[in-house]
Amino acid sequence: MEIRSSVTLPAGYTLEFWAKGPGAIRISERDALLWQAPAFPDYPDFFRYHHGESGDVTVAWDRSEAMLWAYGYDPATVVETGITVWEFGAEGLTRRTGPEIDAWMRSDPLRPVMHFSPVRHWMNDPNGLCRIGDTWHMFYQFHPAGADWGPMHWGHATSADLCNWIHLPVFLHPEQNYWRLGATGGAFSGSAFEDRDGSHMFFFTERLPAYDLFTGYREVQKLTRVGRDVVHASSAETVLSTRPAEDGVAHDFRDPKLWWDDSAGAYRMVLGAALHGDPAVLLYGSDNLADWTYLGPLYRAPAQYRDNGARAVECPDFFPLGGKWVMVMGFVGYTEPTTGRHNLLFALVGDFTGDRFIPNSDQLQALDFGTDFYAMQSFRAGERQIAFAWLFNWEYRKPAGSPYSGEMSLPRELSLDSSGRLLMRVAAELDETWPAAPIGNEPDGSYRLDDVPFDLRLTGNLEGTRIVATEHGLPSFEINVREGRLSIQLPQDDGKIRYEADVSGTDELRVIHDRGILEVFAKGGAVCGTRRNYSNVKPDRIVVASSAYACLSARRRAEH
Ligand code: FRU
Repeated sequence: MEIRSSVTLPAGYTLEFWAKGPGAIRISERDALLWQAPAFPDYPDFFRYHHGESGDVTVAWDRSEAMLWAYGYDPATVVETGITVWEFGAEGLTRRTGPEIDAWMRSDPLRPVMHFSPVRHWMNDPNGLCRIGDTWHMFYQFHPAGADWGPMHWGHATSADLCNWIHLPVFLHPEQNYWRLGATGGAFSGSAFEDRDGSHMFFFTERLPAYDLFTGYREVQKLTRVGRDVVHASSAETVLSTRPAEDGVAHDFRDPKLWWDDSAGAYRMVLGAALHGDPAVLLYGSDNLADWTYLGPLYRAPAQYRDNGARAVECPDFFPLGGKWVMVMGFVGYTEPTTGRHNLLFALVGDFTGDRFIPNSDQLQALDFGTDFYAMQSFRAGERQIAFAWLFNWEYRKPAGSPYSGEMSLPRELSLDSSGRLLMRVAAELDETWPAAPIGNEPDGSYRLDDVPFDLRLTGNLEGTRIVATEHGLPSFEINVREGRLSIQLPQDDGKIRYEADVSGTDELRVIHDRGILEVFAKGGAVCGTRRNYSNVKPDRIVVASSAYACLSARRRAEH
């Protein structure tokens, strides 16, 4: 049965959508057919309609389920307004822009509100993070055809304050239709680069059509430049397609991050890989950004990581900070033998001279003891190094039926302490966009909670602290400090994995909660624990038993 809706479209309006057959769509003006897709293929496909003169059109479609993800925009104003989401319902078309999209997202009682998430479908790593002019850009790994991982695109959002985001059109598409090929792969992770002349570009990996998730695929590095509006990527050019096979680099060869290196007078790039099975970071050099030469491994993980399942480094980050250089890596596949944790990120701090990285210590700093903090990417913004990470661990999924999967961390600011440890703290912008309102100071430490994010700060002796949050009496999470160790327990834990960290000697703890996302900070940010809980995510009571001084506040969005 045909469903029809009338809409007024401005001249030049663009409709982009992904659809899978059976199904069809037709756009007409009075009785004249303007554009149609008469039969969608039986795999997801991408369609784009460019409207001509401004006017009223009728959009007709036959099966709502065929329309997987659709949005429209006026190219002249999309940077300010963002996209208009088109939902092809069984009863007709619903279109939402800006605050209407936010309101719809907030109407999901289980969706975190203070953390970025995609409107619909699957999201993973943050990509291409940068600030251009006064605008913060966040790109992310996105699968537009469903709420599970699949052929990768780059989603895009912008913000004026690092906290409130506008959704923009999909920025990067895979080089061909991977669904049609029955393959995975696509536009994988990458980063932004601002050249010395102020031009902006993005380097990313394309995993070419792959038929196995774990081996035998090919990954190449691509470059795309953008015009001033940063809405669509130019066609991407492959700048590096051969891996150093002679060094034992097999299929994993991805996630470029680059910089201009003053001392070398040339560009440098790191890639995540494995050398004969050991997770490794590779260093490349270039004089022109288009031709890259392999300069050798910058870091190779000790055998114990490979022996415990690590297959490669993912999303390497390498940047100067406080007079030192910091390397951050994810070891895909690794399980820590002592705690059972996996999905860990590690940092090393050291010196970078003559294209060699000399860490201060061989000891890797586990960046987040909660393990739902992965693929972190950082970038320079003025005097600050800002980072976001993807809050996910393949172990636990959102309950089926959610319109989306994946959230980003709060923006974090990175620094080093005097002993050279990497610290992460929530960026100051949070206080402006989500100001704190004190909840009170109950003598028995038992507080009623509204369904809004909260921020709990403890100052003083933390030993023996026990924080228990519940929803209708059922456990949401529990945090303990015993014998100098901080631990987080969620209802889903069966005790096989230990999520804990040493906090001895510290007298401050911060716990931020937003509908199942917990971000915990201690030791000035040297200890961070991020966990994503999917059950009882709206605690209505929290009991704080501690000899430290507790200050609990609600976080409510500042209305502009
Ligand atoms: C990390 C990662 C990256 C890759 C991307 C694919 O989560 O596996 O290494 O580029 O995700 O979506």
